[in-house]
Amino acid sequence: MRKKIVAGNWKMNTNCQDGIELAKAVAEEAKALPAGTGLIVAPPFTHLFGVSEALKGSKVELSAQNCADHVSGAYTGEVSVDMLKSAGCQWTILGHSERRQYYGETDAKLVEKVRLALEAGLGVILCVGENLDEREAGRHFDVCTEQIKNVLYNFTGEDMKRIVVAYEPVWAIGTGKTASAQQAEEIHACIRKVLSDKFGAVVAEDTSILYGGSCKPSNAKELFAQPDIDGGLIGGASLKAKDFIEIALSF
Ligand code: PGA
Repeated sequence: MRKKIVAGNWKMNTNCQDGIELAKAVAEEAKALPAGTGLIVAPPFTHLFGVSEALKGSKVELSAQNCADHVSGAYTGEVSVDMLKSAGCQWTILGHSERRQYYGETDAKLVEKVRLALEAGLGVILCVGENLDEREAGRHFDVCTEQIKNVLYNFTGEDMKRIVVAYEPVWAIGTGKTASAQQAEEIHACIRKVLSDKFGAVVAEDTSILYGGSCKPSNAKELFAQPDIDGGLIGGASLKAKDFIEIALSF
């Protein structure tokens, strides 16, 4: 049975002190969650070690928002998977549309990053999703299929046990425009089919596929009720502990 997961992507928000306070509040509120729901927070790099201390003894897991595509060495400004592990991370988000759009993250680079993350023992939340032009041109299924194939078809069914997919339509991120539950569900079902074609039905059925893009307490229930939506990757609404937990209580 695949896991229900709600992950909070804090993006470039909060300073270290505020971030630790937010993490403590999330850990406290998370006590209300049923055992089967996985909760993950992804603060900025600078906060990771402090937040991992703040989360100790709670059921909240820690994720980075990105990692380097090299193991170590002369890569000024980059953060390696080993650094993330040693800071207390269990996960990293990879391929977020903001990384693809503003920092030239390509599928080829993502293959390296996923490989390094898995080798280091990190779980991966791999983001895919179409932009507005692609949606309006009716290419949303093709774009998501390509992204999944370009990255995940380089891995094995065994690797997939530690990979979660997040479908995030770019036009819905931070815009207040949520994909309708039906729009999201049809892409999630498509992604599961693409995974099934390569890894078989069992692996595809066991892979958690999260929805992201203006997901909030008021729309999470309808989204999470869809058969192929296994939770959410939450941006703005993850910056308030109460909203974030309300979303996680929406299954
Ligand atoms: P949003 O961001 O919830 O603020 O739309 C989601 C994301 O980009 O992960």
